[in-house]
Amino acid sequence: MAVTNTGIIILGASGDLAKRKLIPALARLYEKKEIDASCVILGSGRTPLSSDEFRHRFKGPQEFLSMLHYHTGMDGIKNAVDSLGDIRKYIVFFSLPPSVYGATAKKLSEEGFSDQTSIIVEKPFGYDYETARNLNRELQKYFDELQIFRIDHYLAKEAVQNILVFRFANSIFEPVWNSRYIESIQINAIEDIGAEDRAAYFDSSGIVRDMVQNHLSQLLCLLTMEPPVSLDAEDIRKHKMDVLKALSVSRWAKKQYRGYLDEKGVPADSTTETYAEIELFIENFRWKDMPVHIRTGKNLGRKGTEIGIQFKPIPKLLYNKTGSVPPNRIIFSIQPDESIIMELSSKIPGSDNRLTSTNMSFCYHSAFQVEIPEAYQRLLLDALKGDRTLFVSAQETEISWQKYAPVLVSEKPGLYDPGSLPSSALGVNWIDFENYGGACT
Ligand code: BG6
Repeated sequence: MAVTNTGIIILGASGDLAKRKLIPALARLYEKKEIDASCVILGSGRTPLSSDEFRHRFKGPQEFLSMLHYHTGMDGIKNAVDSLGDIRKYIVFFSLPPSVYGATAKKLSEEGFSDQTSIIVEKPFGYDYETARNLNRELQKYFDELQIFRIDHYLAKEAVQNILVFRFANSIFEPVWNSRYIESIQINAIEDIGAEDRAAYFDSSGIVRDMVQNHLSQLLCLLTMEPPVSLDAEDIRKHKMDVLKALSVSRWAKKQYRGYLDEKGVPADSTTETYAEIELFIENFRWKDMPVHIRTGKNLGRKGTEIGIQFKPIPKLLYNKTGSVPPNRIIFSIQPDESIIMELSSKIPGSDNRLTSTNMSFCYHSAFQVEIPEAYQRLLLDALKGDRTLFVSAQETEISWQKYAPVLVSEKPGLYDPGSLPSSALGVNWIDFENYGGACT
């Protein structure tokens, strides 16, 4: 059923996010009949604009564009949206710096937004445990936790959602999904571009805050959580939280790419890391003693997010007397090509028990020739429908900050050359994920 009679308010609407992601996502939702013309989309920003000038910035069907309106500043914003239609509920997207989230929530409440309102906030959600907790308290002064939607766009990636389906809709994996059979889990999220025009923001954050505390921890939670009894947001969040509570960081190495200090907005003595390698453990019955390795960074020659599940080797018997049979692996490629690959050993035809590694692969694009929806499209629709499954709870953000606190302490990073992966400072035998890239060709 389409979403109707809703005021969709975008604060910071003259900015880049509204132009690149939010309005195009709403246009797609309109085209797909997920929202109808009884909704009003009101952009608001400090830049004075008329609704016509605002509309002209976007593309889409004429009927969609006529749903767009603009209001300068926040004074009178609720009356403005109410005067544009029969509006019964509101959703307010904060496309704003987190430093003004608290004041903005207060202002919304003063303007009369209350029970029928949901707010959507972007990361960074806090800088550490203290700041995240304060921010949660600030927002919760004006809005109930049930009204607050914290975005982690990794949760809306189709291949990320498929992790739960893969685990819980197939019976063959669950019995082996534990540290008795799995030797290690590797999460690799690397990017080819550096900090570039976001360098000033990035320098105040670093890769651990930017990627690990939120996106990669969420991936890890989905991979390792206990099976919930329902798909309700609260059940899933509770099980993710149990993983976070059991998480314990053991070792890490932080590095910075050569030339980072010359990026615009970066202080000459910055110790901000652009690359991190982290080892952690999940101290519970299922995952006891099994290391999880996370590697992420900027300017590493390739963009790719992959997860490697490395199984334990088979005994040195039968075909493996010399220990040459490689252990099984499951590779989840989250992006750029969404695929799942199982690496198995098989006999080389005609040979005398000579084995080779073979891949069984599932590639999204060839399996389903449909367009994979953009993350914001999914997130906005879920928020409009009140489904909080893909959003992160206050407690999750706080626990996660607590767990990564030792890694957040500033220290002088090692250096690496842009364009290539540094060798593992923790002695991790990283899977060559790029080798599995052919599944979708
Ligand atoms: C953002 C980070 O949250 O995620 C960026 O702030 C990073 O630094 C980006 O580049 C990565 O997202 P994606 O979807 O391109 O992997």
